[in-house]
Amino acid sequence: MRNFELYTPTRVVFGKDTHLQAGQLIKAAGGHKVLVHYGGKSAEKSGLLEQVCKVLEEEGLSYISLGGVKPNPRLSKVYEGISLCKKEGVDFILAVGGGSVIDSSKAIGYGVANPDHDVWELYTRVRNAEGCLPIGAIVTIAAAGSETSDSSVITNEDGWLKRSCHSDAGRCRFAVLNPRLTYTLPQYQTESGCVDILMHTMERYFVNIETMEIVDGMSEALMQTVIYNARILMSEPGNYNARAEIMWAGSLSHNGLMGCGTGGGDWTCHQLAHELGGMFDVTHGAALAAIWGSWARYVYEANPERFAQFATNVFGISCDGMDFEKTALAGIEALEDFFRSIEMPTDLKGLGLELTDEQIQELAFKCSYEDTRTIGAFRQLNRKDMEKIYHMANGNSISRI
Ligand code: NZQ
Ligand code: ZN
Repeated sequence: MRNFELYTPTRVVFGKDTHLQAGQLIKAAGGHKVLVHYGGKSAEKSGLLEQVCKVLEEEGLSYISLGGVKPNPRLSKVYEGISLCKKEGVDFILAVGGGSVIDSSKAIGYGVANPDHDVWELYTRVRNAEGCLPIGAIVTIAAAGSETSDSSVITNEDGWLKRSCHSDAGRCRFAVLNPRLTYTLPQYQTESGCVDILMHTMERYFVNIETMEIVDGMSEALMQTVIYNARILMSEPGNYNARAEIMWAGSLSHNGLMGCGTGGGDWTCHQLAHELGGMFDVTHGAALAAIWGSWARYVYEANPERFAQFATNVFGISCDGMDFEKTALAGIEALEDFFRSIEMPTDLKGLGLELTDEQIQELAFKCSYEDTRTIGAFRQLNRKDMEKIYHMANGNSISRI
């Protein structure tokens, strides 16, 4: 059994109307001058932004705002935020939005706290973050889990590289989780978010080492909860309990708890999906759904028993009369059926992409950091393997690869 460390310092404030506590929470965290950071129009349209600004005023906090964060958040916006924060003497960032806004907030916070270097160096792993402005989040979409994770993912428009930075310094001081704030989400975003949540646990679950029974059990329960409630939200987007289950699963799935004793997890699908996000600006969760089945079929033989456990404990597929391999394949099909039932893609075509051989080579070249690294823990994969998985997801026959 592997040793592990778990660090989850984020205060979670969960439930109806909790966003109205933002001012008090910022004051308790020592903030005086706040940057309210947000995305496109959704927080303006719903009236959330106005409500948040009002509660900051009521608490006597001064603030400035910066919107315009796009999904797959861009480095240029981060630079804009860093300059603004320095000019205005900001000492706290309040992210009002989803993973993109929270990640952009973390990047701005790193940039301000590490003024002698280009913040992008943290994302290319040239050096580590030495600090970060304190961040709080009012989460408006259950998906990325950035509110409780140590990561931030940013896209550099110069080369369209999407890269992540991991540091405890950027972890949110607080996360406000009000499921009602997610009612206004388009169905595609709700369901993409559900896939992302599921995948944050699956990336940790599919490893090829001995794991802990208690962590496996919690992971399988989380996966079942997400699958059950994601289906409910297809027909009942205003179902509070389903929204709440998904939202809490989102934070639990990526705060490290589901990875205890798993040696860090696999993360291949995330690496492959990040390149798709960087080059084609596709929605993160949908990209994961589009790639997962191809990855699973490519690697399952490394440990069919683990895939069979997934099939049995998550989907109730009995192993009786079937070998591990058949059960494993039935589990892969069951997850793809689930993706289809929530109108998520199971290949790149469903994601709106039809890649050329050159594009696949470029994706794999970037993902392998120009052929200098392998990825994956369930099975270690090199650049050629990455190409093959992209080809499979692209619908190319194996004999052509
Ligand atoms: O920009 P607005 O107008 O707010 O619209 C957003 C955006 O178009 C919309 N939206 C969000 N809340 C809404 C809403 N629309 C209506 N009502 C609401 N309540 O949804 C769209 C997607 O928002 P985004 O923040 O991009 O979603 P998500 O939370 O899925 O974040 C995706 C980003 O997070 C990264 C992804 O790679 C991607 O860049 N990730 C970050 C992680 C982390 N930091 O730990 C882990 C993840 O694996 C992931 O990589
Ligand atoms: Zn993700």
